Amino acid sequence: MRGSFIVVIVLSLFLLFYGCDSDHTEEVLKYRIPEQPELPSGYIAKPGWPASEFAVAAANPLAADAGYQIIKAGGSAVDAAIAVQLVLTLVEPQSSGIGGGAFLLFWDGEQVHAYNGRETAPAAADQNLFLDENGSPILFHDAVRSGMSVGVPGTLSLLKKAHEQHGILAWNDLFEPAITLSEQGFRISSRLHSLLDSDDALRNDEIARAYYFDENGDPHPAGYNLKNPALAQVLRNVAEQGIPAFYQGDVAEDIVYRVQSHPVRPGLMTIDDVAAYPTLNLRTESMCNDWKSFLICGFPPPSSGHIAIMQILGIMEYLDQPVTALQDSIPTAKWLHNFFEASKLAFADRNKYVADPLFVDAPGNEWQTMLSRDYLAERAELVSASGTMGTAVYGLPGAEQSFWGTQANQPERGTSHISIIDKQGNAVSMTTTIESGFGSRIMSNGGTGLAGGFLLNNELTDFSLNPIDEVGNLIANRVEPGKRPRSSMSPSLVFDKETGNLLATVGSPGGAAIIHYTAKAIIGMYDWGLNAQEAINLPNFADFNSDPVLEQGYFPEWVISGLEALGHEVMIRPMTSGLQAIQVIEGGLFGGADPRREGMVMGD
Ligand code: GLY
Repeated sequence: MRGSFIVVIVLSLFLLFYGCDSDHTEEVLKYRIPEQPELPSGYIAKPGWPASEFAVAAANPLAADAGYQIIKAGGSAVDAAIAVQLVLTLVEPQSSGIGGGAFLLFWDGEQVHAYNGRETAPAAADQNLFLDENGSPILFHDAVRSGMSVGVPGTLSLLKKAHEQHGILAWNDLFEPAITLSEQGFRISSRLHSLLDSDDALRNDEIARAYYFDENGDPHPAGYNLKNPALAQVLRNVAEQGIPAFYQGDVAEDIVYRVQSHPVRPGLMTIDDVAAYPTLNLRTESMCNDWKSFLICGFPPPSSGHIAIMQILGIMEYLDQPVTALQDSIPTAKWLHNFFEASKLAFADRNKYVADPLFVDAPGNEWQTMLSRDYLAERAELVSASGTMGTAVYGLPGAEQSFWGTQANQPERGTSHISIIDKQGNAVSMTTTIESGFGSRIMSNGGTGLAGGFLLNNELTDFSLNPIDEVGNLIANRVEPGKRPRSSMSPSLVFDKETGNLLATVGSPGGAAIIHYTAKAIIGMYDWGLNAQEAINLPNFADFNSDPVLEQGYFPEWVISGLEALGHEVMIRPMTSGLQAIQVIEGGLFGGADPRREGMVMGD
């Protein structure tokens, strides 16, 4: 069923024991580097992790362990998320870090708090940012690998704001794991090695080349102990002096210098743009919506994630359900047809309406118009059980005519997800990104003059490169000064609607497919009664309002031919989700991590 993927049972058993490491008994933080196994890339079967008190799920064992040690030392879920994110900057640099942005949801037992650390466009950027001298968008590949794509990083500012409200341990303690690992080194994982090897641009950056590659231009091998003194120095300064040590002075100057001195396509970011980020109000309202007997809370625009997931789930509620949705752990063609049609409708709306709410009004002045029962019922009427609609057209939520153009699909990649439930039962769902793998392929050493540093995002390519559609209408998600690009990140918290009790924290990387991956996990856990690991293991599937995509190596012929009989032209592709989920179950917790990546869950 899994084609050429390697199933590493031995590793799974190791991870099971690693996840229950009973040596971690300190009650105050005294960070100790754990054993660092060399991990294979590809498919790694995961056992699923039971825990009784708390659990931390992250995309890398060292990052999960940092969060584990923080909670053991008395820290909150937010404290643990901070330590996890800082370690991810070092050990999973291709996906997220202090050079990027994030969305964080925190459940404090009574309410959901939302923090928006999405990157901003520089003040000098406008809708022509990615246009050439003829007014045509430059190649997406070139836009990514440039200084123009770098948004002002928001992650550290978000972490600081969340810590001020929900932290228990001292801010500087949370930096200890990442600083220690940066100084003493971490073993390059197989996944990081193979991504370094296959990347076409990172080695053109002088700092990245000197740090990740040897004198022949080959990446250091998997298992190589890589130290990052520049990152250690930057983190030590931020730990001791707070975030001004990042947003002002040497670090800010170096970020701006790297962006502006890109040898081919320099960017427009200034010192003032960077200094302005911590003055932004990062607190926002989460969006919470009913689905069956559940309440699902997610992130509002500029994320399109929650709205699209809830449109898909909501529209499907109005469709005739096939007798069999899941057969031998594979979704059936009839069920997938419903999912794909609902996804087409959701993506048609997403590509028209969703953009930064500080710049663009919601349809009917309220994003919830896109999720009203009447509107979703109306949209569901467009779905036929006998064949696909092909391409969906946007609807009119809020019954309001809109003059926005429709954004064309653009590639979206990268990202990482962190799920945590602490000893108080409070929870974090945080999705974090530098966008593409290795972001803009620009590395800053923070002006330290030392080896290493951190990668700068290419988040501004999440804006539409073209400010107008083919009939000349302005696109809501076009570049504007100070604006945040639309995202697909979908950190989610699931509650029992009746009791209000937390049931799960879940999310995934994966570009626009984050939406489908997260929806799949929620459906798997709460429609199909699977545990978090089983739900994550399910094969992936997506539709971006074009031809549907099925995960390579999973789907038998009877599913593909069933979809073709309904008019779908199916594409078969690798779909590397990175779901992490923790469920609250009878008597404890149960966590799952995606077998398609190196993540794991640690807890007691
Ligand atoms: N850059 C990935 C996302 O924000 O969806």
